[in-house]
Amino acid sequence: MTEKKRLLTGLQSSGALHIGNYFGSIKPFVDMYEGYESFLMVADYHALTSLKDPKLVQECIYNSVKDFVAAGVDPSKAVIFKQSDVQEHTELAWIFDCLVTVPFLELGHAYKDKVAKGLEANAGLFTYPMLMAADILLYDTVIVPVGEDQRQHIEYAREAAAKFNNTYGQTFIEPKEHIVKAVGTIPGTDGKKMSKSYGNTIPLFGTKEEIQKAVMSIVTDSSGQKPENVYAIHKLFRTEAELETLYAENAGKYKNLKDALVEDIENVIGPMREKRNSISNDDVKKILADGAAKAKAVASAKMEDVRQKVGVAI
Ligand code: TRP
Repeated sequence: MTEKKRLLTGLQSSGALHIGNYFGSIKPFVDMYEGYESFLMVADYHALTSLKDPKLVQECIYNSVKDFVAAGVDPSKAVIFKQSDVQEHTELAWIFDCLVTVPFLELGHAYKDKVAKGLEANAGLFTYPMLMAADILLYDTVIVPVGEDQRQHIEYAREAAAKFNNTYGQTFIEPKEHIVKAVGTIPGTDGKKMSKSYGNTIPLFGTKEEIQKAVMSIVTDSSGQKPENVYAIHKLFRTEAELETLYAENAGKYKNLKDALVEDIENVIGPMREKRNSISNDDVKKILADGAAKAKAVASAKMEDVRQKVGVAI
């Protein structure tokens, strides 16, 4: 039996999910994670770089776990845990902080963007890439599925691994990013890329009424027989062959086509919404407690080696 390679990714919730998030990043992840020994980490300490409201921090933790489990991650097939439960993450981050230079961290996109906007970055945001490097490297992670915006952070993790290995001897694996991509852009209700900031989204766990409202708001122009913006979203839920018949039968009947789209969306996300509603906060706590024990076992063994190598273990 060949051992599965280790995969780790981190979740930093950015509010209510929409179907663009689902088809663009969550579904591709759900489709791949079982092929690896997967670790899914709620990045709650990373969240503190921007969130200062404790209630909101807690909510984000619950929501992240519920979202991913409802969308198809089986807690018995992946280790789901939160960063703050495994103190080795912040501990290792400190050691990396002592290896990398300030000019190196000053090249970080997240930090640079903040400064470019004339805003003050906290020190946590500045050293964010070293905490993320620790998240990844503690587990001898081989592959890190992330969005394109996180590519640089994986480079930082490789650098941290190389710096440590050069200084103290071979200890960490240099991980590779796996850029999670949808097949093409997911269009929103106005035909542009679906994005919270454009206000053109269809909520992933919304009620049927909310889906209906979003679908009815899809922009159509009356010039053709086929409403392109409706079709573009419909393609996510049905094959083009199926759609060809439906759209031919309903040529020019935009209302019928929108109704059909509502039904098709509902068939896919209805069960996910139900699943999400069935997961209690206590269920989340249980999932995270199980995950923490498993993650801790791996991370503490690695950290013992690190403490030996840097000389603090006497
Ligand atoms: N920075 C990532 C994001 O914003 C979240 C994250 C934290 C992460 N630690 C990680 C992703 C480790 C992959 C691996 O999406």
